[in-house]
Amino acid sequence: MNSLHQPPLEVVILAAGKGKRMFSDTPKVLHKVAGRPLLQHVVDTALSLEASAVHVVIGHEAQQIEDCLQKTPVLWAMQAEQLGTGHAVAQAMPHVHDKSIVLVLYGDVPLIQADTLQALVALAHSGGLAILTLNSKDPSGLGRIIRDASGRAIAIVEEKDANTQQRKITETNTGILAVQASHLQHWLGQLKNDNAQGEYYLTDIVALAVLQGVDVATQIVDDELEVLGVNNKVQLAQLERHYQGRVALQLLESGVTLADPSRIDVRGELLCGRDVEIDINCIFEGKVAIGNRVRIGPNVCIKNAIIGDDSVIHANSHVDGVTIGAACAVGPFARLRPGTVLNTGSKIGNFVETKKAIIGHGSKVSHLSYVGDATIGRDVNIGAGTITCNYDGVNKYETLIEDNVFVGSNTALVAPVTIGENATIGAGSTITGDVPGRHLAIARGRQRNIEGWEKPVKK
Ligand code: UD1
Ligand code: CA
Repeated sequence: MNSLHQPPLEVVILAAGKGKRMFSDTPKVLHKVAGRPLLQHVVDTALSLEASAVHVVIGHEAQQIEDCLQKTPVLWAMQAEQLGTGHAVAQAMPHVHDKSIVLVLYGDVPLIQADTLQALVALAHSGGLAILTLNSKDPSGLGRIIRDASGRAIAIVEEKDANTQQRKITETNTGILAVQASHLQHWLGQLKNDNAQGEYYLTDIVALAVLQGVDVATQIVDDELEVLGVNNKVQLAQLERHYQGRVALQLLESGVTLADPSRIDVRGELLCGRDVEIDINCIFEGKVAIGNRVRIGPNVCIKNAIIGDDSVIHANSHVDGVTIGAACAVGPFARLRPGTVLNTGSKIGNFVETKKAIIGHGSKVSHLSYVGDATIGRDVNIGAGTITCNYDGVNKYETLIEDNVFVGSNTALVAPVTIGENATIGAGSTITGDVPGRHLAIARGRQRNIEGWEKPVKK
């Protein structure tokens, strides 16, 4: 955005308000859409415009907001008392460069799009003040755009200050605007609070621009939800659905098959290869990358994972912090926890939990097992009900199982322990010591059959 010939762009995001109607102890701008705080959406969009600085004006619960966005490169401005949107912008101005273009955004308007803003900023480059407006189906509560006989915008009137005639206007103020910093600074100094709400309205700069003969350009946004501010949980839910609808559409357009585009939730970044199929009610969190021809069954939750080509995740599985190779099968009802690595062609079946477990090429853990702090070689078969006993109540220990081992059902492997290549463990064993390669280990009570046993009788 910043070429040699253009002034730098600085963004001012207003986020000092209280958000009473959320009925929540969490500050409004920290409520989440798609798993990300509202304010984070706005900041991320602002940063994507390559702004030279992003200022955030905070007041209510300022510390909580700063803590939450700790890692984000923004400059904070304090507005101790909420005296109006104009007063809020003024709190950031001492930190804004005179030659910049200022773009004003709102911390509770999360779905504003970068291309809309780029167009608005471009308007401010050529004129003095550019405002983003909307033709509202229901304009109640919003500021109205007043135009003169030739159609030029000459003022914004807040609903509470508007007369009956003005209230009939359906073109409303989104609040978002772009303007040269020097103009803005000058106009903010002239704001008065002699209006219905006793506030310093940012919107009054439109009339001041006209008075001074500075051009006011308008841009009309089509999508009402793109500029919808969140005031309550109803609007929060509406925006969540809208956001998810957008993501689903992008996935479909890129060739992913979704069983139902209204039943997928992406709370992060989802990258898909070719011919990926995703069944209903799947949730993706963090960064998830899926290879070609992968199939994801219904009700699957996947967080921070890489899934290789031709793998299948069956219904109701949880996958978190995991790398899955090509041609693997997982689930149904599997739980893969952080540090799990599945090598090519391996299988994790139903009711299996893994954590920090490396499963070798072609190995299978098919039923009802816990495998944690373990490294398993190639072509190993882990029988149903096998448990790696990795924890003594204080420390965690490792289990190493070499290639081609066969572990019989209902085995407890008390770590630290190593099972050598090609060894076999008899079912029901509690293995407390290393097993050398090619040996059979059986560690269970011997069976006794007692002849002529009389069953007890009821007294
Ligand atoms: C504002 C606009 C109105 C527009 C509407 C769009 C003004 C005077 N009015 O009205 O024309 O149609 O937004 O939603 O600008 N804020 C602060 N400090 C303050 C006051 C507000 O940070 O002192 C923040 C709030 O947290 C909020 C945003 O600014 O995120 C908008 O404030 P709000 O009081 O909701 O403005 P509206 O009355 O809705
Ligand atoms: Ca509002």
